[in-house]
Amino acid sequence: MRIQRKLTLLLLFFCSFSFAQNISGEKVFRTYCWGCHHQTSVAFGPSFQEIADARTKGEIQGYIVAPKSLYEQFGHKRSVMPSFEGKLSQEEINAITHFIYTYKSKKDN
Ligand code: HEC
Repeated sequence: MRIQRKLTLLLLFFCSFSFAQNISGEKVFRTYCWGCHHQTSVAFGPSFQEIADARTKGEIQGYIVAPKSLYEQFGHKRSVMPSFEGKLSQEEINAITHFIYTYKSKKDN
């Protein structure tokens, strides 16, 4: 009985783990951002490396959902980036933010 309960818990653990892994930042990037942003080189928009070095995770998440209200504060003259509010789930936003941060080159903050 005890071992069965342990096995069930283990199974549940692995199921939820693989479910969480389904939302990949890389996939969100390839699907929604890649045409305009590249990882380390400037494309239509700034590179992820540049973004990760300059912004907090909160700022990045804010920009993804509301670029039109943040672009001036971020130093851009105009805003052509579309808002992803309602298009990406919070999990996808977390995943893409984490993905952007993997390109951070400055380790000081
Ligand atoms: C149609 C092109 C386009 C798409 C698609 C796009 N972006 Fe952008 N993004 C831009 C441009 C251009 C800028 C520069 C400012 C602006 O236009 O708003 C920008 C700016 C940003 C900034 C702020 C940069 C800074 O530090 O000043 C972030 C963060 C960002 N994009 C993240 C994303 C993410 C994440 C995605 C995908 C979910 C994405 N963008 C999709 C074009 C795009």
